[in-house]
Amino acid sequence: MKKRRKFVFVCTGSDCKSNGAKDFAGKIKHTIQSGAYRGKFKLVKTKCMDCCKSGPVAVVNNQLVKKAGLEQLLSELDREV
Ligand code: FES
Repeated sequence: MKKRRKFVFVCTGSDCKSNGAKDFAGKIKHTIQSGAYRGKFKLVKTKCMDCCKSGPVAVVNNQLVKKAGLEQLLSELDREV
């Protein structure tokens, strides 16, 4: 059976947007389109996830990544690869 892609949710609500969510989403997109992650993840932009003070936020593998923590996000992606 073909393995399905995993989703990476990134908030693009107004508070996260003002804290750099667009840049964060761009970094995530660039990351999941390269190297070992290529073709295994899909970026989904969402509305507010109700964690505005920790923004910009993303969810991967049921884990919330706060404050644009790209290193934490990479470790979560590594668990899924
Ligand atoms: S705007 Fe991103 S969590 Fe609320």
